Amino acid sequence: MKRFSICILACALTLPLITAFSPALDESETKKSQFIEELLSKMTLEEKIGQLNLISSPGDVVTGPKKGEDLTNDIRSGRLGNVLNAIGIDYIRSLQRIAVEESRLGIPLTFAFDEIHGYRTTFPIPLAESCTWDPELISRCAQAGAQEAAADGLTLTYNPMVDIALDPRWGRISEGAGEDPYLGSLIAAARVRGVQGEDLSDPLTIAACLKHYAAYGGAEGGRDYAAVEMGERRLREHYLPPYKAAVEAGVASVMTSFNLYDGIPATMNKFLVDQVLRTEWGFKGVVMTDYGSIGEILEHGCAETIAEASRLSLEAGTDMDMCSGAYIQELKGLVESGAVDVKLIDDACRRVLQLKYDLGLFEDPYRYLNHKRAEKIIYSKENIALSKLEAVKSMVLLKNDSEVLPLKKSEKIALIGPRCEDTRSYCGAWAGKCEPNRIQSIADRFAKANIVSPEEADKIVCVLGETHRMSGEAACLTDIRIPADQRELLEKMCALGKPVVLVVMAGRPLDLTRESEIASSILMAWQPGFKTADALYDILYGAENPSGRLTTSFPRNVGQIPVYHYMLNTGRPATDGKNERYTSRYLDCWNAPLYPFGYGLSYTQFEYSDVTLSGTEMDANGSITATVTVRNTGKVAGDEVVQLYLRDMVGSVSRPVKQLKGFEKISLKPGESQTVDFEINEEMLRFWRADMTYGSEKGEFVVMVGPNASITKGVNFWLK
Ligand code: GLC
Repeated sequence: MKRFSICILACALTLPLITAFSPALDESETKKSQFIEELLSKMTLEEKIGQLNLISSPGDVVTGPKKGEDLTNDIRSGRLGNVLNAIGIDYIRSLQRIAVEESRLGIPLTFAFDEIHGYRTTFPIPLAESCTWDPELISRCAQAGAQEAAADGLTLTYNPMVDIALDPRWGRISEGAGEDPYLGSLIAAARVRGVQGEDLSDPLTIAACLKHYAAYGGAEGGRDYAAVEMGERRLREHYLPPYKAAVEAGVASVMTSFNLYDGIPATMNKFLVDQVLRTEWGFKGVVMTDYGSIGEILEHGCAETIAEASRLSLEAGTDMDMCSGAYIQELKGLVESGAVDVKLIDDACRRVLQLKYDLGLFEDPYRYLNHKRAEKIIYSKENIALSKLEAVKSMVLLKNDSEVLPLKKSEKIALIGPRCEDTRSYCGAWAGKCEPNRIQSIADRFAKANIVSPEEADKIVCVLGETHRMSGEAACLTDIRIPADQRELLEKMCALGKPVVLVVMAGRPLDLTRESEIASSILMAWQPGFKTADALYDILYGAENPSGRLTTSFPRNVGQIPVYHYMLNTGRPATDGKNERYTSRYLDCWNAPLYPFGYGLSYTQFEYSDVTLSGTEMDANGSITATVTVRNTGKVAGDEVVQLYLRDMVGSVSRPVKQLKGFEKISLKPGESQTVDFEINEEMLRFWRADMTYGSEKGEFVVMVGPNASITKGVNFWLK
């Protein structure tokens, strides 16, 4: 520690001079810059490269070749500056102590982990969270998860994952916010705010890491790690906005994705990392690879040697090497041979030191290591209550014939299905350090209800769906139906001729076509986390009214993929229901999804007035207000997500049949109405035009407002 007191003293003495000559730079920034340049000037080339090295502590969350059996020697020699998957205050303290007290310059380590939707207190999977359509709630939950991780000594989380995904075959659709760029952007920024708070040095905030940059969700065939082939326009229009929103929200770091974009691995893709991220968006933070990505460049066939892969990655702007060991092995030789400019290493190392400075690690490397704080924060009753609230708000009621739901306490209920006891699967993929043995099962929660056999029951509740291993990384499927044995069980139950409530737990949209024909009610519960049982009980018995709305379209079958709400019209649009030959349709399936984006039912009903506009023309400086009145025509209070879609009828490129441009979540008592206004301005009409400039074009637009993306009726206005 004595080393830094000299550095800090040196800053204090020179500070007045610097500020005197650079008033523009605020004092703290000057002090930070002075400290980092001072430290950088003392570092050897190998120590600088050590700061670009990130290795996994041996442990259970390893998603590639196991690295770093013994970290201590590399930490002590300054060859390792960052660790992931180190768990527990005492273990982290032991590693940090070696870095700070036994290495030559005592530079503290960062400690990273995948706290994605909760650390110990598990929240619903991110795809479920997105169905709350409540960025503020999502931000609070992200904050709670990050606080628990910080309380356990971690300083960086690989969260938010913001990859737009249109393909339910892709297992990682569970980790994102669904198909929509607008909603996905709001959620991305909300997560960054939740994780990082206002001050990264606050021991209850940690650095967020935006992933997976970029367009990982576009993997062809819905197969993980597969190539992403799409034009720049589609990339910029539909896939990049959530990443950009996270950068604008101040995300501290970015993780490059495993996939190719336009034939070049993201990790060495100068267009993505250097041109878009750093130059166009002005991102100044740390860019790190995903697990072993530099090594995988050889498998992609984009470099002959690991040295070449290292050079190409560093030159693209990728600072830190996660778990391939390439940088620490190759960069020194590349600099000494003149193949790599040492300035690139200085720049990368500077960004890593800046991150550590912002985290407050130089001031106090042990600031995140406090058992008392951990006891208070982890599993706090506030976090558990928040987890339940979000679980309730994330569930989506897809069907409810003759109001079979909510159940009545007097009814005799049969409760069956493999997910009733399977508490680990309640937490889905990337469930942090969840402890299934501390989670109440559905069977246990319902034990006090009027539970009987299916034969004696008035109603049957089947809790079916995926285990936690059936979605997430490297968990892609060509068959997205509920597993066959469970489908059989459901058929049997429905053959008993009494109302069957199907509760679906999964990490992806499923093909529920058959289920929609035979079950009376269907509740998409996703994987709701720590308070699954309580949340489900309250929803099924009506203590809570379901209010979730889908953020991915549910296809009728896997053959229909991709189906999403902002598709293009084609030159031969088909209209479901009319068998027009020679139109863009299938012979064996409607075009419309089984359940559209934005869809969800309630225990009450909502009625929409026609939309009215404050005018039918606007210019680039003007705006138009779209107004709709929504009324609760049912018997119970409920929440409704009023959605605004726009269609640009003519453009220099073909424009989607609709795009989500706004929404408002409202709560209405029975009989109550609320008028909702949406202001439409020119910025909302911009797109990547034929000449690849971003802007609006004059012409006709259609405004649609309603409960989900199946609406087509709208009112028109013109941009003059
Ligand atoms: C994994 C995932 C990434 C995760 C990282 C560290 O392979 O792709 O999402 O953050 O490795 O665990």
